[in-house]
Amino acid sequence: MKALGLLAANRCFVEFGAGKGKLSHWINVAFRGSDNVHFLLVERSTTRFKVDGKNKSADSVFERLQVDIQHLSLRKVPLLCEKGLPVIGVGKHLCGAATDLALRCMLESSGRDSGEQNNQPPRKRLKLEEQSETVGVDSQPTPTGLDSDMGKELTVSGLAIALCCHHRCDWRHYVGKEFFRDRGLGALEFAALQRMSSWATCGLRKASGRSDSSSPPGSGREQWEEEDHEHGDDAIPSSLDGVVSAEDREHVGRLCKLLIDYGRVDYLQRKGFTSNLHYYTSRDVSLENVLLTAVPNSTG
Ligand SMILES: C[S@@+](CC[C@H](N)C(=O)[O-])C[C@H]1O[C@@H](n2cnc3c(N)ncnc32)[C@H](O)[C@@H]1O
Repeated sequence: MKALGLLAANRCFVEFGAGKGKLSHWINVAFRGSDNVHFLLVERSTTRFKVDGKNKSADSVFERLQVDIQHLSLRKVPLLCEKGLPVIGVGKHLCGAATDLALRCMLESSGRDSGEQNNQPPRKRLKLEEQSETVGVDSQPTPTGLDSDMGKELTVSGLAIALCCHHRCDWRHYVGKEFFRDRGLGALEFAALQRMSSWATCGLRKASGRSDSSSPPGSGREQWEEEDHEHGDDAIPSSLDGVVSAEDREHVGRLCKLLIDYGRVDYLQRKGFTSNLHYYTSRDVSLENVLLTAVPNSTG
């Protein structure tokens, strides 16, 4: 994040799928000494053992919103409207569709995602998207004129989201539909890739039938995976036993995840961002080790 210039003061970090809020906590630690740093933690579930309370200081402001990302309009959040601070979207292991919802939420707040039904409030937009998916046509732009209802546009300074659980993606919410369609792929192929993506992480569990002894001692990985991730339940058909090796399945699973993630990179590039995928740690530490980043293209 530092290399991308995302650890700058006078910003508001929006942490999507915040859980206990540890990512914001550690970003705040990285900032110690800088002032005017705000954190907005977005989480739909009631969360126990939150760490936000520990972070309140004169220099940083922490707020928590209990809401589903798909119903969130950042332009209407008082903290963001009043301060007018540029926003940076962050997330640590934001599951499947939640990543796509977060990307749309961010870009819509900046007015960059206005191609589909995004002049509508989130709930209404989702309904329209569902209808257009039902009849199998691309979404059509809807009449504008709701601007006063939409709130002020925000500046998006960038985002950094550690991805996970691609088997929980959903074509309806997926931001990379254009990337797929350009390659002759659609909802059917997406569903297959989505299901096979779990091979990247379930091969190890199935092969071992044990808790993951390859995790470094004290990494807490096995507990974390069990608590926070829902694994695909239909992962490996028995017809593949003995035909495709566990290693090959894992490799295919990783390629499926990569393809889904490239659709997200492509979406961000189309919207005027420089976007990349980074491997931020080894697979020994986490099988979900890809970070999606984006910063706005410089205009100068
Ligand atoms: C794998 S957990 C990660 C939690 C935390 N970021 C961490 O690293 O410990 C994913 C979190 O995202 C939240 N989440 C998933 N979908 C969401 C949505 N649509 N809106 C809000 N939160 C969501 C879940 O409730 C869960 O707390």
